[in-house]
This record gives sequence, structure tokens and C-alpha cells, in this order.
Amino acid sequence: MGRLVVVSNRVALPEESRAGGLAIALLDALREDGGLWFGWSGKIDPHASGRMHEQQDGNITFVTMDLSAQDHEDYYNGFANRTLWPLLHFRMDLVDYDRDTYAGYQVVNALFAGKLAPMLREDDLVWIHDYHLIPLARLLRDRGVKCRIGFFLHVPMPSSDLLAALPSHQRLFDGFSSCDLVGFQTERDLERFQDYVRLFGGGRVIERGLLEAPNGRRFRAGAFPISIDTPRIAELARDAVAKPGVKRLTASLSRRELAIGVDRLDYSKGLPERFRGFANYLKRYPQQRGKLTFLQIAPVSRGGVAEYRHLRSELEQLSGNINGRFAEPDWTPVRYVNRNYPHATLTGFYRLARVGLVTPLRDGMNLVAKEYVAAQDPEDPGVLLLSPFAGAARELDGALVVNPYDLDGTGDAIARAMTMSRDERRERWEGMFRYLQTHDITYWRRSYLQALRETGDVEPAADSTERPAYRRRKTDLPRDMRHH
Ligand code: G6P
Repeated sequence: MGRLVVVSNRVALPEESRAGGLAIALLDALREDGGLWFGWSGKIDPHASGRMHEQQDGNITFVTMDLSAQDHEDYYNGFANRTLWPLLHFRMDLVDYDRDTYAGYQVVNALFAGKLAPMLREDDLVWIHDYHLIPLARLLRDRGVKCRIGFFLHVPMPSSDLLAALPSHQRLFDGFSSCDLVGFQTERDLERFQDYVRLFGGGRVIERGLLEAPNGRRFRAGAFPISIDTPRIAELARDAVAKPGVKRLTASLSRRELAIGVDRLDYSKGLPERFRGFANYLKRYPQQRGKLTFLQIAPVSRGGVAEYRHLRSELEQLSGNINGRFAEPDWTPVRYVNRNYPHATLTGFYRLARVGLVTPLRDGMNLVAKEYVAAQDPEDPGVLLLSPFAGAARELDGALVVNPYDLDGTGDAIARAMTMSRDERRERWEGMFRYLQTHDITYWRRSYLQALRETGDVEPAADSTERPAYRRRKTDLPRDMRHH
């Protein structure tokens, strides 16, 4: 079997101990057959993009590339995070399109393709991740790469009308049709992508999950909901209760219940709405005042983009306002923290929390929701409040569904979680935990890679007008894709 080649903007280098669940899963996958992880080095070169770094860890080679300040600005802060991120999260109002940043995004993708293509072998399996690298598959094909290429979109696929509003959308989304398999988080994302191909992309839906590009090239698409390392999170959470940081939090609560939210400081997470929903809870349920403390952990993210800086000051104002209105000399309702915490400590915080608040306006999956569930004490689990606009809502059916735009409803749901019987909490939790035990991160990457291996052998078109040959293999589709 050939190597696995993972490509992503951020690379979890061996010396970085902060690798999250996804990075660990990808490292496991790379270790299985040996492989290569390629991406941005995380470094800015003041002069030019392109300096390469290589390091070896067992049978995994890490190859990374520095970016110049200008390329990084255009590609990452610019087109990826000022244009694509809001667009993919249904925020047309925040989309800032600019031809120069789009050109910079293409330049960096072309640089990636130029460096990577000569390293690839025919039997490699290339797995590209996320919206930073949408054109990459196409650019690799242009350089004669014939091996199997998969792409996974970690963020939502929005409605096709929104995608069609992006100038040059067809050229951009051409990247998808150069792949053999495009993976989405949910069936809804897949459906919206199929609508796009059919309505605006100039292609065809042959059958669910089998698409044809305008140039006649066929490729597969499917839903592969990402997940967590369930047994590891459960164990970390059990052990974390003895950690000093978790003990200090317990002591500081003075027997009050805890509601927790953990999110990157991002406008897609619905944080101002969540804060207002919590204020509504305090307003509408005065008898519960003083019984619940809300801890929001929100590490600062993408400070180079103005929207993120505005959000930060909005939340500072809101938390100050709520505390000024409702605090008592011995109780602060909102604790708002911009620091990041070690993963193990967070699992301990989740386990302490009677209420887990995961109320994004849009989210591809949201792994905090899954980790909150996995971290609970089976005897006395907390209640997950989950937005229907997170991918996780399609799977975690024991959660209380909270529409983040309904601030009164959010308040009601918090109050309901506070008074829910232990029996009901257990019943809701058990089904979700059982599901996560089988649908974990290993299941996710195995089902994706198996589906990628089983796609037809593709002879890519030399240019977009040539109709390539596409042969379907006799092997059955993996279970996930069969019933779609
Ligand atoms: C989301 C994206 C990832 C990204 C992460 C952190 O989860 O899907 O691709 O790496 O946010 O954002 P950052 O901009 O810091 O990489």
C-alpha cells in the first residue's frame, strides 16, 4: 500500500505538544502506513515564501514551508479568513472580497502544489484538509499528479446561492472536482454541495455522492462526521478531577453549579447571543439567581482580522454589563477568560459543569459538544445545550436543542437544565455516549480513507476540456455511503 500524504495549513510538528484530537488522529493514520505531512511551517519569512523545512519522526516525514508576510496576509488573513471563512459560515454580510487577496491565495496554493508535486508517488494517497487549500487538488493535477486525492472540508458548506455570489466561484470550486473524494461533515453539507454543482457549478449529480464536473470528470462526495477520541477524553476527564486547576475551580464555585462554554473567539460561535441568553436566564428566573456561574473560555483567535477584534471588545462590554447588573458581593455570574487551557484541564472543567453551552450560529461539527458529553460523570452527567446549526446536532440527539437566535429560549433551556432530574440527565447522556463510543475519531478517519481508497481509478484530464476516463472499481462502497 502507498503512503498517506496529509496536507493542511497548520501542521502538528513533533515538538508541539498541543496537538488536538484531529492532529493525533492524522498522526495515527500517518503512522499506520508511513507518510508525509505537508503544510505551512507557522513561520513568516521577512523576504520571500518558499523556504522549506524537513524533519523525520519514525516513519513520518514532516515537510513545511515558510510564507512571506505579504503572502501570509493575502492567503491566510485575507482570502481564507476574510472571504472564505465568513462565506462558508453563511455570513455574506462579513465577506470581504478582494482580487489581490484572492491572487495571493492562489499563489500560496500554487507554491504548495509546486513543492509537493515532485515529492508524490503514483501509489500515494493524498488527503487535503480545509478551506485554505481548496484549489490545491486542481493545481496538483495541472502538474501531472495522478495519484488518488481526497479533500475534507472541516467547516460548513453553505447554501449554493451564497457560494455563487463569490466572484470566480467556478474556478475556485474546480479544486473539488479534481479530487476523487470530497468529504463533508454532514449529509446537509453534502446536499448543499450537490445543489451547487447542479445549479451553479455547471456539473451534474449522477447519483447521491457521485458527481460530474463540467469537463466530464467524475468524482465522489460523502458525509463523514468528524469525532473525538472518546475513551481517551473520558479517561482524561476522570483523572483531571484531581488536578490543581480543576480543584481550584471546584473550590471557587462554593457549591454553585457551573455552566461552561469553550470556543475560539470567533463570530461563528454565537458568543454575544450566548451572553445575552444567559442574561435572559437571570432576568426570567430570578429564583435561580446565584445558583449557577457561567464560565466562558474564549482564546483569542485571528487577531489580524478586524471582525475578531470587534467581537473581543463586544464581549468585554457584555460580560461587564451582565456582571454589573446581576453580581452580588459574593457571586460573579459571568467569568470570561481569554486564556487557553491544556486539553486535560478542559476535560476536567467539562466534567464539573452541570450545563455545557455549545450554541454556535454555524459550525461544521463542533468537537467541544462531543468532548463535553464524553467527559461527563456517568452517574451524574450534565446537560448539553446544543445549537441546531452545529454539525454535531445531527448526531447528539440527547442534547437540549437551543436556537442561538432565540435569546429567551436559551434562557429557558438553561433553567430547564438546572432543574432536570438526574434520571432524565442520565437517559439523555447514555445514548449520546454510546454513540460516541462507536463513532469516534478512529472510525472517522478509517471510513474516510477506506472510501478514498475505494474510489475509481481516475485518469485526470490534462486540461479542463478533455474528458477523462473514469473506471469504477467493483468493490462495494463503504457502509457510510451505501445507504445515501
Ligand atoms: C477551524 C478550522 C481549522 C483551523 C482552526 C483554528 O477549526 O476549520 O482549519 O485550523 O479553526 O483556526 P486557525 O486560523 O488558528 O488555524
